[in-house]
Amino acid sequence: MKKIGVFTSGGDAPGMNACIRAVVRSALKRGLEVAGIYRGYQGLIEGDIKNMDSHSVSSIINTGGTILRSARSKDFMTPEGRKLAYQNLKGAGIDGIVAIGGDGTFTGADIFMKEFPDIKIVGCPGTIDNDLAGTDHTIGFDTAINTAMDAIDKIKDTANAHDRLFFVEVMGRDAGYIAMAAGIATGAEAVLVPEHKTNLDDLVKVLQNAHDRKKNSSIVVVAEGDEAGGAYQIADYVKSKLDIFEIKVSILGHIQRGGSPTCLERVRASRMGVAATDALLEGRSGVMIGIINNEIAYTPFEKAIKKAGDISPKYLDLIKDLN
Ligand code: F6P
Repeated sequence: MKKIGVFTSGGDAPGMNACIRAVVRSALKRGLEVAGIYRGYQGLIEGDIKNMDSHSVSSIINTGGTILRSARSKDFMTPEGRKLAYQNLKGAGIDGIVAIGGDGTFTGADIFMKEFPDIKIVGCPGTIDNDLAGTDHTIGFDTAINTAMDAIDKIKDTANAHDRLFFVEVMGRDAGYIAMAAGIATGAEAVLVPEHKTNLDDLVKVLQNAHDRKKNSSIVVVAEGDEAGGAYQIADYVKSKLDIFEIKVSILGHIQRGGSPTCLERVRASRMGVAATDALLEGRSGVMIGIINNEIAYTPFEKAIKKAGDISPKYLDLIKDLN
């Protein structure tokens, strides 16, 4: 292997820049050439590829977003798009890729490497959602939960001041990891996640009970993918059953995707980026780098994208014990 490419794809996540930096610097130190591919698979199809040196990744370890930018490419889902991507890689002399992204990124990578096995692809898990198997934490998750925690702490201040009940909706697509972590960390009265069926009448009882215990305010954290609906819908239902609180809704949204990565994020992203370079040099392909029990782990793409429904009911019990 002489030259590798690196790209970020799908929703950006804090820590992606730390990972890019680690891939670029480790590859250069091992005598490889490195190119940055801009806007993920779309940039690959359009040939938006530029060589990188050590200086290209200076002063980015502390920044959110991604210097390589990101996209969700529809063209890459077509055989014609993938063929163009292959031709551009060949043209640039790239024989190995580090793809930093989430399940969509690895689904695409899995198809591509089966069609063009002479290009080796290794992945690093970059998504705030933490919804990939093969790693304890994805790059971006720690920063996102700290951002959500910080925002909910602030909401709690104002909720307390006005005796209000807040429904706070957090991101996570179909997964409730952000909701659960932020809910536990902020002492929420309830956390609604897609992994467990939500009973809205039970929720009403929990909130009534909190009010009876003279709580000044209550917080319900709602994962955006909860099957009972979004925060507005759930708040409307609760409003129709309870008129003891003034009810407000706050959707945290994309604030959770930005910001300077936490220390843990930077460390994990750096370890994974170096491990990705080494994996390519060892001849690995079709695997996502992860960290499990503090050790680097390799998981085939098709297994990495199949994480679902594994928030333990113990966490729901924890919320009940502590609310
Ligand atoms: O996958 C990351 C994520 O932020 C999800 O939590 C969310 O559902 C989605 O991306 C939002 O995507 P977009 O930025 O395209 O609206």
